Amino acid sequence: MKQDNNHTLIGPFKQLVTMAGLPQAGPIVDEELEVLENAGVLVYDGHIVLLGRYDQLLNIAQEKGYSLQKVAEPMVLLPGLIDAHTHICFAGSRANDYAMRVAGKTYLEIARSGGGILDSVRKTREASLVELVELLRKRCDRHLTEGVTTCEVKSGYGLTTEEELKMLEAIQLVNNHHALELIPTCLAAHMRPPEHTDSRLYLQEVVTQLLPQIKEQGLANRVDIFIEDTAFNEEDSLEYLNAAREMGFEITVHADQFSTGGSRIAAEAGAVSADHLEASAAAEIALMREASVVATVLPGASLGLGMHYAPARKMLDGGLCLAIATDWNPGSAPMGDLLMQAALLGAAEKLTSAETLAGITVRAAKALNLSDRGTIEKGRLADLIAFPTDNYREILYQQGKLKPTKVWKRGIEV
Ligand code: NIG
Ligand code: FE
Repeated sequence: MKQDNNHTLIGPFKQLVTMAGLPQAGPIVDEELEVLENAGVLVYDGHIVLLGRYDQLLNIAQEKGYSLQKVAEPMVLLPGLIDAHTHICFAGSRANDYAMRVAGKTYLEIARSGGGILDSVRKTREASLVELVELLRKRCDRHLTEGVTTCEVKSGYGLTTEEELKMLEAIQLVNNHHALELIPTCLAAHMRPPEHTDSRLYLQEVVTQLLPQIKEQGLANRVDIFIEDTAFNEEDSLEYLNAAREMGFEITVHADQFSTGGSRIAAEAGAVSADHLEASAAAEIALMREASVVATVLPGASLGLGMHYAPARKMLDGGLCLAIATDWNPGSAPMGDLLMQAALLGAAEKLTSAETLAGITVRAAKALNLSDRGTIEKGRLADLIAFPTDNYREILYQQGKLKPTKVWKRGIEV
């Protein structure tokens, strides 16, 4: 029999949690989770071509001469995790800010006194492209070993045309050589840069100078803005987002972190997602549902700032599609552990295991408008992670301390 090394059968897995067939939005009960026992996955050209009972797949594989990747210990297989919101392209540390914050100063006070985001802007501008690539690459290494196979990364610490392009180039360079797949987002509208006195004029400059270059060089398809008292107001933001959308960018918004208003703009601008939402209540939830905006909550920012979580339970009960992301950044969310943060949010907000796991897989894919991943299904990317346990419930029960020991990106074990 001719050997076919292009097809590979991976398994057996004690449990295979497909995350397939779940409702796109609203509550999910655990009984809706599809859990296959003693299962395997057949992979070809980076995609899943077949899944099911391992012994049956093994017969096919042996008949056709497919290669086998045997899993010796009992393991649980999940789709690769998706972190739909990060700022991991940055230089410097804000450990001093953090110490001030836990000693009682607020995030906004530190920002107003010249610390905060602008401190990271200074250090990121000072870093060379090569230094930035190296820093980002190391953070990607860590994320990948912790089971994240797709990760959104924002610019936003450059705040000039040249420096924002440098950040997006760093993201592209790492993306070209790393198994962790990066989804770049332009966050030039993170804050008004110190060189500008007029926020509106700065945003117009971004629209006329930076965004066309990003399009031309294919550096990002997504545009984000931080709507808040200390950042951009609602009116300027809507004008900016409408212009970006008309240029063909997908829209996402930092919304309702401390005060409401951003989620309304996200809905009006046709955003794919609104992120943060710690301050959102029933009215905001209703607006997001009507406009089919994915709610991406960021428990890492709540943990980093010592503030309450976004009302995730109310969002699900209000019919929203809930994604959970780390917001990994040097200021408000330095931890960057997606699984741990999702587990902690789930415990505090009373989310079902299915809701929490969907928030970091299939619903996180929706937050990034990606339909080729987030579930283990025929035709999807073979982004897979395996945990050394025989019961999927151990994963959230151990609150992030149980890590995957095997990770596949597009069918290749990394
Ligand atoms: O999502 N809220 C605004 N931006 C980031 C924080 C970035 C920073 O503090 O450096 C956030 O929390
Ligand atoms: Fe953020």
